[in-house]
Amino acid sequence: MNLNSLKTEIDKELGTLKTDSDCATFHQKYLSKSGVITNLMGTIKDLDPAQRGKFGAEINVLKRDTESRLFTLQAQIKDRELNEKLMQDKLVDITIPDLTREVGSLHPITRIAREVEQVFASMGFHIESGREIVTEYENFESVNVPANHPARDMQDTFWLSNGNVLKTHTSALQNILLKKYGPTFGAIFPGRCYRNENLDASHEMAFFQVEGMMVGENITISNLIYFLKTALTTVFKKDIEVRLRPGFFPFTEPSFEFDISCVFCSSRDGCSVCKKSGWIEFCGCGMIHPRVLEMGGVDPNKYQGFAFGFGLTRLVMMKYGIGDIRVFNSGNVEALKAI
Ligand code: PHE
Repeated sequence: MNLNSLKTEIDKELGTLKTDSDCATFHQKYLSKSGVITNLMGTIKDLDPAQRGKFGAEINVLKRDTESRLFTLQAQIKDRELNEKLMQDKLVDITIPDLTREVGSLHPITRIAREVEQVFASMGFHIESGREIVTEYENFESVNVPANHPARDMQDTFWLSNGNVLKTHTSALQNILLKKYGPTFGAIFPGRCYRNENLDASHEMAFFQVEGMMVGENITISNLIYFLKTALTTVFKKDIEVRLRPGFFPFTEPSFEFDISCVFCSSRDGCSVCKKSGWIEFCGCGMIHPRVLEMGGVDPNKYQGFAFGFGLTRLVMMKYGIGDIRVFNSGNVEALKAI
């Protein structure tokens, strides 16, 4: 029997299939139990044995070929029908993220404050937070800056009408913590400080500092160097060299200026930030003045401690190479997000 006319008929019909149910009808007609191809297969046994093999092979090929073409076509049709339905029903694909909603992020100062807190906490320090309005005693007297002391001029203070002040430095918390935890403890406290400065690229009226102190027996300046160096190496994610120079603060004795190797040129060539010296002034520090310990209720003959206070805002500027301090309080979300 010649299968060519059947092949042509199948070709033609396959070309007319438009819907899934057309496909089902086609399947019924040719491939089902009572379909044309199946019936033809049933006739093989009645053929002349010499013809059986060839015909059997041909009808098998036709069957497989028809099945696979129908299968492919049906898949395409189903896909198209589903897409059309989705379009019609305006179904929502809930797996697509909603791009119209802004995702918030932490302020860069908060982010770095948390990093600093984490590394100090891992070395056993308490994390403290203080008030923004403090008494004159806390800000000045308790850290050995009595009224009329010339050191009061080092910081332009915002005075409130009731005699309190907006804290000019985080050292305003030293006395409170000595009384709370003394005589042996370690604590750091990030906080916002205020000074009556004219606003420019490197001066802000409101900025952040981080104060650190540790009190106990046999505390030395080497302990301070170790803790600060470890913290800075963690924050900058690279080795930081440090050096101490003599300094002056009424609340520490001796007092030091704590310099770090320039994070911009890595102390090699010198750059405009470190003024070709390879070093950047990082913070003030020293051994807590005996009078400060005493006012905090800690016996200076038995215990010693170190204290340091650095500009957190400046640290963030250094870490990200930011040249203008005004960006932090600008409320410019796009600029802040980019940091
Ligand atoms: N309070 C000092 C300042 O604001 C920094 C400092 C803190 C220095 C602790 C020594 C010890 O500049």
